[in-house]
Amino acid sequence: MSLIEAQKRVLSGMRPTGRLHLGHYHGVLKNWIVLQHEFDCMFFVADWHALTTHYEEPEIIQDNVWEMVIDWLAAGVNPGSAELFIQSQVPEHAELHLLLSMITPLSWVERVPSYKDMMSRSNNDRDVSTYGFLGYPVLQSADILIYQAGNVPVGADQVPHVEITREIARRFNHIYGRDSGFEELAEEAIKKLGRKNAGLYRELRREFMEEGKQESLETAQALVSDQQNIPLGDRDRLFGYLEGGGKAILPEPRALLTDASVMPGLDGQKMSKSYGNTISLREDPEIVEKKIKTMTTDPARVRRTDPGDPKKCPVFSLHEIYSDEETRRWAAAGCTSAGIGCIDCKKPLIEAILQEQQPMRERARQYEENPDLVKGIVAEGCEKARTIARSTLEEVRSAMGLNYR
Ligand code: TRP
Ligand code: SF4
Repeated sequence: MSLIEAQKRVLSGMRPTGRLHLGHYHGVLKNWIVLQHEFDCMFFVADWHALTTHYEEPEIIQDNVWEMVIDWLAAGVNPGSAELFIQSQVPEHAELHLLLSMITPLSWVERVPSYKDMMSRSNNDRDVSTYGFLGYPVLQSADILIYQAGNVPVGADQVPHVEITREIARRFNHIYGRDSGFEELAEEAIKKLGRKNAGLYRELRREFMEEGKQESLETAQALVSDQQNIPLGDRDRLFGYLEGGGKAILPEPRALLTDASVMPGLDGQKMSKSYGNTISLREDPEIVEKKIKTMTTDPARVRRTDPGDPKKCPVFSLHEIYSDEETRRWAAAGCTSAGIGCIDCKKPLIEAILQEQQPMRERARQYEENPDLVKGIVAEGCEKARTIARSTLEEVRSAMGLNYR
């Protein structure tokens, strides 16, 4: 696959360790739904990653895999625009994980923040001092590199995992990507671009290599892909030479950072399963209503006549996500003047959440009633994924001397 194609591919995964909630919707899924129209998207359930921490609770994983796919579909992920699949159904990920583990220095995985955090915590409720958990970022690298995906939409916590993926890819390309006499062949290939383009190529390559200008890299890649009359091998070399020495087998991905604004939960902290402050994606409307109605508000408002401060109220944090400016102003003014009660203040919020969830509940219904529909979508996604995965693996195996055909 060429670099240009890699730049069109998006890959991301989620661990099936619980039901999805509005935090996932606002933080991740809305972004996927936008991306699916602009890129070739592949979204998968990272069930092996869930096992690295929840290996003693297989039922949690089992319960959540299909529900998670239904949540995605409910949120508007479109199986016509994106491939949906399950990691363990594409065993090629495991083989690439193994092969990448051969070249991954121990010090690289030991210094990954998520690993260091887990290991330094004394109150871990699960024992993650396992070989599998140490390899978490290598498995994630395999997930990404097996599709030669150029783009990985993730939250800030996952950026170090994309970073180590880049390092592993670079190391792989460095060890296995060079064909003999690469540099001379690349120089020959540059000459075939003609004087003007050759000069431009050299200048852009220098700007990228010496000054790290991403823009120059992209311009140079576009320049190479515009060349109609040069042989394929030369094209690959010209792409590879831009980023370093050899022919790049595994392109380095970039993280597409998801909007950092945090979705507040029912208690004003970040919405998270571990705080028990969530509203799930397909929550029953009555439960939604009850959860909002029982939310704590500014403690200063003991009586209806006591004024409050919206800044101290988790309900107001939700207004900031769900309400337009007019409603927010109405709530803030009514709060500080004791002009409205907290029940009044919560009403438009309840309505806004129910309205957001209405189409999700409708979309979900057909899948809940017909699980085969979901299985069919995933089976198709797995097939498509495997086709790509097999072809990358073929290249990797042969680069590593494992070619027995
Ligand atoms: N580690 C990710 C998380 O916890 C899930 C994940 C696994 C992933 N493999 C991936 C995300 C590959 C992006 C790309 O959220
Ligand atoms: Fe919170 Fe609204 Fe009550 Fe003020 S009026 S304390 S913002 S719920």
